[in-house]
Amino acid sequence: MELQNAVFGRRSIRKYAPCVVKKEEIEEIVKCAQAAPSWKNSQTARFYVALSEESRENVRKCLASFNAERTEGVGAFIVTTVVHGISGYTSSGDTHLGNGFECFDNGLAVQNLLLKAYEMGYGTLIMGLYKEKELRTLLSVPENENIVCVIALGKADIDPEMPERNQTQDILKIF
Ligand SMILES: Cc1cc2nc3c(=O)[nH]c(=O)nc-3n(C[C@H](O)[C@H](O)[C@H](O)COP(=O)(O)O)c2cc1C
Repeated sequence: MELQNAVFGRRSIRKYAPCVVKKEEIEEIVKCAQAAPSWKNSQTARFYVALSEESRENVRKCLASFNAERTEGVGAFIVTTVVHGISGYTSSGDTHLGNGFECFDNGLAVQNLLLKAYEMGYGTLIMGLYKEKELRTLLSVPENENIVCVIALGKADIDPEMPERNQTQDILKIF
């Protein structure tokens, strides 16, 4: 698939048709996420995937109620985390962004993941609202990792328009 088509065709999907996602497909998608750049190639992104019906239902219970409704029938939930306190740091100090680069790295990996999923015919939804403690316990996420987002992955049952973006000239300064 042309990059241009993937970048502009991908949408946040908030209605899914039931589907089965294979373990091998998840591995292929996560491999693409791993190809993203990261601070000093520190690769601090981690992925916890709920694939079985039982684990998907358990993750759904950890979501904000409106997100749970929007993700009924998805084939997988991918929870991304970051190993905390590595990205953004050097032996001689840190940057003015502090921990900011760890979520930056995670976002780069997630964008690769979303685009690969789209190329493979899957819709996705990033969700930033969930019950962090419940999710951490459910997936046994260690304390040295911060949970970043939950991504729903499944067959889109809706074809939304691209929400309006800012005018490029309003957000761009070229010197
Ligand atoms: C960090 C982050 C958190 C988000 N959380 C939610 C969420 O909790 N629920 C939801 O429906 N959409 C969520 N979204 C999706 C955005 O609303 C969506 O990306 C935006 O409206 C642009 O639409 P598009 O993805 O179709 O281009 C989130 C997106 C990001 C990047």
